[in-house]
Amino acid sequence: MLNLTLCRRLPNLVATCHNTCIRASSQASLSIQENIKNKRKLAKLGGGQKRIDAQHKKGKLTARQRIEVLLDPGTFTEYDMFVEQRCIDFGMDAPENKFAGDSVVTGHGLINGRQAYVFSQDFTVFGGSLSSAHAQKICKIMDQAMLVGAPVIGLNDSGGARIQEGVESLAGYADIFQRNVMASGVVPQISMIMGPCAGGAVYSPALTDFTFMVKDTSYLFITGPDVVKSVTNEDVTSEELGGAKPHTTVSGVAHKAFDDDIDALLQLREFYNFLPMSNKDNAPIVSTDDPSDRLCPLLDNIIPLESTKAYDMIDVVKSLSDNNYFWEVMPNYAKNIVVGFARMGGRTVGFVGNQPKVASGCLDINSSVKGARFVRFCDSFNIPLITLVDVPGFLPGTGQEHGGIIRHGAKLLYAYAEATVPKITVITRKAYGGAYDVMSSKHLRGDINYAWPTAEVAVMGAKGAVQIIFRGKTNQAEQEAEYIEKFANPYPAATRGYVDDIIEPRSTRSRICRDLKLLASKQQSNPWKKHANMPL
Ligand code: HXC
Repeated sequence: MLNLTLCRRLPNLVATCHNTCIRASSQASLSIQENIKNKRKLAKLGGGQKRIDAQHKKGKLTARQRIEVLLDPGTFTEYDMFVEQRCIDFGMDAPENKFAGDSVVTGHGLINGRQAYVFSQDFTVFGGSLSSAHAQKICKIMDQAMLVGAPVIGLNDSGGARIQEGVESLAGYADIFQRNVMASGVVPQISMIMGPCAGGAVYSPALTDFTFMVKDTSYLFITGPDVVKSVTNEDVTSEELGGAKPHTTVSGVAHKAFDDDIDALLQLREFYNFLPMSNKDNAPIVSTDDPSDRLCPLLDNIIPLESTKAYDMIDVVKSLSDNNYFWEVMPNYAKNIVVGFARMGGRTVGFVGNQPKVASGCLDINSSVKGARFVRFCDSFNIPLITLVDVPGFLPGTGQEHGGIIRHGAKLLYAYAEATVPKITVITRKAYGGAYDVMSSKHLRGDINYAWPTAEVAVMGAKGAVQIIFRGKTNQAEQEAEYIEKFANPYPAATRGYVDDIIEPRSTRSRICRDLKLLASKQQSNPWKKHANMPL
């Protein structure tokens, strides 16, 4: 039987106990909150002030500062700030080797009001090296970006695989590579190289749509100068081997280089405005004060009277673009072809133009690959293509033939033939030989093909043609003149319907802007296949 006194006191006892528990638990929750606050503070310090100072001394921002510059103020939502590396070898389980968030900052935010997923490698924590926890954080945002349908931006600054973790780190890379490939053509993927990017780490940027670099502070290579020295006995610096200059001028690995971190991130914001969120989306239409029907009188006289004289195709592109604004891609690589983004009537377009100023605008291996990759990006992400043609043909020579111009040239041909986005073509001058076919001709499903009155559509130039068909005969000058009269004009193509119209150059912008509106509802698809087998 219960003691009555105790029974009477029970409610008080319970109340006292309850109050004590509340006090204890609120103390506990206070200390948890303090703890969380402290952890957040520590996470924000990455590898500590000393390493942050060292990063600044190299002229680089920290991972978090980069995100701040890239995203609209106050829009960054961070994930996985409390994730820690889990390695137990080489003393890595010691508390001083645990950094909240490990060596990468991940999350999402807005760029000019539009969603973006971002990861920013933190060089102050183990040199930004990739642990399995680091990889897991990147994979998490990539997975979510795919579910949501939003681009992924990687800010790379890393010493490569976390050496202490061995195969765990290699597995982490492969997990990212797999996601890069699955996301390819689904959401735009952009890599900004802002420090070292070595070893296997280079392959994730290589799998993304665009790789940009920061001059002087970033480099990309499979093996560094020391390994190069030991294997090939070459003496080379990191900059010479894999800096922004070789990759944007010689290898074509990177698409553009910027002066410093701030310039790079601000340009990236600008670039982002051209892109759609995903392959199911169209690029945003931006309001513009530049009239769609603006005439471009400059274009009437841009083609020199002498057919062999050069002019700058970028002048043509700029004249046609809203507010003359052109964001060129790969401006210093394979300059005989010009590619990049602009807007016409507020709509994003991808320009591809032969550049008569460089190698007479001939197509060669590098320009074919550059053009093909750009065309495929635009086609993947619903960006209409405007092709400006002034091409004397494919570049002849053993260098090109032995280098595989047939295979590489076929890439550009393939890309245009496969593309189903609106395709508008303007032949400004030469459209010779196979290059006529390749450059978004009517025969490759060009939607609207124009020629300027200066267009010359022929199998080859008059001189070469006459030498072949009238070999050894006299009167070559006469025959050359006859050939020019017959073919060095737009009529042979126009009378066959291979160009839809011969237009005044000054009217080109207004015609294209109208066409873009018309073609906005274009629907075209290719036959079902597992995937195509383009010539690689
Ligand atoms: C673990 C690393 C690291 C790494 C750098 N650190 N790289 N920790 N794993 N891969 C640490 C350093 O120990 C140092 O720690 C801090 O990061 C900064 O490095 P420093 O050498 O002091 O900086 P710096 O002089 O600027 O040189 C940067 C560097 C150099 C050029 C990146 O650290 C370096 O060469 N690292 C190794 C690069 C590498 O070989 N990676 C593996 C590639 S193979 P403290 O504590 O002093 O701050 C690979 C295979 C992947 O990636 C394949 C996937 C398919």
